[in-house]
Amino acid sequence: MCGITGYLAKNAPQFVISALKMLEYRGYDSAGIATSNSKITIKKTLDGIDELGKNLKTKGNVAIGHTRWATHGKVSLKNTHPFTDCKKRVAIVHNGIITNWESLKKKMKNHKFSSETDSEIIAHLIGEQIEHGNTLLDACAKASKKLKGSFAFLAIEKGKKEIVGVCNESPLIVGEGDKIEGFSSDINAFPIQIEKIARLKDKEIAYVGRDKIELFDFNLKKQKIKWEEMEKKRIRLGEIFEHHTIKEIFEQPKVIFNVNMNEIKNAKKLLKSKRIVILACGSSKHAGEIGAREMFEKLKKEVKIEDASEIDYSPVRIDKNTVIIAVSQSGETADVLRVVKKAKGKGAKILSIINNPYSTLEKLSDYSIHLNCGQEIGVGATKSFLMQVLIFKLLSGERIDLKILSRELSKTIKGNLSRIKRISKWMAKKRDAYFIGKGKWKWAAMEGALKLKELSYIHAEGLGSGELKHGPLALIEKNSPLIAVGDNDSASTWNNAYEAKTRGAKIIGIAPRAQSFFDIWLKTSARFPLMSAAVNEQLLAYYTAVANKINPDRPKNLAKSVTVL
Ligand code: F6R
Repeated sequence: MCGITGYLAKNAPQFVISALKMLEYRGYDSAGIATSNSKITIKKTLDGIDELGKNLKTKGNVAIGHTRWATHGKVSLKNTHPFTDCKKRVAIVHNGIITNWESLKKKMKNHKFSSETDSEIIAHLIGEQIEHGNTLLDACAKASKKLKGSFAFLAIEKGKKEIVGVCNESPLIVGEGDKIEGFSSDINAFPIQIEKIARLKDKEIAYVGRDKIELFDFNLKKQKIKWEEMEKKRIRLGEIFEHHTIKEIFEQPKVIFNVNMNEIKNAKKLLKSKRIVILACGSSKHAGEIGAREMFEKLKKEVKIEDASEIDYSPVRIDKNTVIIAVSQSGETADVLRVVKKAKGKGAKILSIINNPYSTLEKLSDYSIHLNCGQEIGVGATKSFLMQVLIFKLLSGERIDLKILSRELSKTIKGNLSRIKRISKWMAKKRDAYFIGKGKWKWAAMEGALKLKELSYIHAEGLGSGELKHGPLALIEKNSPLIAVGDNDSASTWNNAYEAKTRGAKIIGIAPRAQSFFDIWLKTSARFPLMSAAVNEQLLAYYTAVANKINPDRPKNLAKSVTVL
């Protein structure tokens, strides 16, 4: 789960640096760039893309770059891409995981490896083929056939004005404009000069030379390129927002209008199936848990839900009578993709709820409902979570007036903003926090806890409110923050919150009506309490991170799409 990019253009390194900034959400442990002139020149840094761009001595018309989320090998300069072969004739950047790198490495005894990564093997395999007199394109094709796993990589050769891009189970897009050609892991990272793009399929290779782009399979049989006009709407942080996360939270009252009712109507046909299994990870799983309860409540439909990384160990049957609802913002989460592929093999149908329409999950699905909420750059899910919940509610047959929902969400933000900013300063000094709720509210509590911990690094536990007295209450002390979420039917949650208050907890109630014992009340919409509560939780997590001087867009150790198992 890294970002790769490369350009053939005047001032190619500058294009690479700008693109890496847009790809940084995919991983930001370290970054590097390589250019090809009479020799390969490389610069690497552990200090972010701005640092990489400073005093960049590498000039030229050919450059590739990488922003890393470490998988094999710790965060260090030597494990930072690009990598070269022994003779520094080629440089590569790679996104994905090479599963057979160790066995390949054992066979390459005469090669000197400089890193602990799986990726470096690619540079050596290509270098060996170049040594045998192959062109860069031939060398990449031959090397690719030896690799197992998921990989999108770019390769350049010393003194050559060309870039070769290879794709297998990791996203790679090639783009073309006036006097510029290049590659990117993500469509949004292309500069405005790129006018059309083509997504590479698995086992495809794109050759980019001067004014020439060609597509091949791994046997170098030519393929037809399916160009798409480049969308002009690109994501930039506006003047008024300091971070993508807050921008994305504020976008929610608007993006809900993008829900596609036709897709929901068509998807409902699939829900007639005998068995429905929802599959997701993280925040998407929380949305799925809420969805499963909505479907049970309103459609009287029994729905199983499982964490995609746990399903192999759970008593869930998947067969030809099963519809899998795969929920994933990115559509690239490896845990989800793995189970989806397996389920397809057993004859199950795949209905995905997905934000990225160009993702691998989209390709694997029989039908998709799109979140249509625009790219989410902040690493914590915000607007995508809200859209997923909305889609589940609509799928369950709830009639929602989007205009009223939008107004209520705006009111939530405006009405609570200054209060949340104040509480966040208090919260920022805490070590632990507890979020409680019952039924679907348990999952709203779990989401609140996840948001707080990942954005602000405060340990937070989300739990069913009834569970509090079975153990966690032992942790409550004077002024422990306890956030209770619910609606006008949540009497038992309020009882459990009161029990914690009796033991010293400070109660933040997120609810449409205040209870007398709430220390702080964050008012939610009476018509849409759950979605309104989610927005409050997001704001709380965001401002607590800001109060702790943490960049909420890029929590440490995380990346936006988790493409490793
Ligand atoms: C939390 C968060 C993650 C993702 C999870 C699944 O804020 O963003 O927990 O929800 O990694 O990602 P997707 O939805 O892309 O499959």
